[in-house]
Amino acid sequence: MRTIQFNQANIAYEIQGMGTPLVFIHGFGEDSRMWNEFIPYFHDHMVIRIDLPGFGQSDVLDGIGIEDMAGVIKTVLDALNIKKCILIGHSMGGYVTLAFAKKYESRLFGYGLFHSHPYADTAEKKEGRNKGIEFISNYGSALFIKQMIPTLFASKYAKNNPHELDKMSFFGSQIPPQGLINALKAMRDRPDNSSVLEQSGVPVLFIIGKEDAAVPLDYSLDQTHLPKIADIHIFEKTGHMGMFEQKKATQQIIADFIEFCGKLDNYKKIIIG
Ligand code: MLT
Repeated sequence: MRTIQFNQANIAYEIQGMGTPLVFIHGFGEDSRMWNEFIPYFHDHMVIRIDLPGFGQSDVLDGIGIEDMAGVIKTVLDALNIKKCILIGHSMGGYVTLAFAKKYESRLFGYGLFHSHPYADTAEKKEGRNKGIEFISNYGSALFIKQMIPTLFASKYAKNNPHELDKMSFFGSQIPPQGLINALKAMRDRPDNSSVLEQSGVPVLFIIGKEDAAVPLDYSLDQTHLPKIADIHIFEKTGHMGMFEQKKATQQIIADFIEFCGKLDNYKKIIIG
């Protein structure tokens, strides 16, 4: 992986291929390896995936907020001289995507919320984050992740694909406790970003799982009416991990979204010259 400095921390990222820049941002308890089997489909694009601070091979950065994570994305894009891209954020990666769109929408052809939403944490959710922080401080990352991973998938998929869950648990168990704790604090303290969707001047993609235990279905559905241009996909019998649970369908959805954004923005002309 390549690295770049952000606030004196090493940030790891990977870049593959040529074409329209497509950036994938992982969620909480994950790293850029979660996209290993998903991204080969996009071989005719420039695919960039980033390890957020404290995850994968990126350094832990204390006191980091979701807005800082958006700053990490901008730093990588600037270093690669990428003027505009499509950003796809999974869950916490979607929170980062919205924070990025809030400040740098002119750098986006469009963006996708992959099992994510713009709403701030409720008091109950904040309390859950605090309990998570305490648990990780006492018992470390591996046990926390081991308990979390099965809750992310719809039960039938989890039963039939234990190897995928084991892999996610293995990757997650490697995250330093402080990386998880910092991200829990960042999510707990993030603002409501509904206005980002309301004011969005670019298309927004929503991928929703009806059995997503991490993003309540009413949140998922409520947000879809906010942007002016929305591409909405709702999957039955799917949890929080559509990139595994509905791999082919969600790959095709993202490919179609890229093409749609291109028609609006004519980026193919910009890329080819
Ligand atoms: C994630 O997958 O990133 C988390 O479920 C997001 C959250 O806890 O809000």
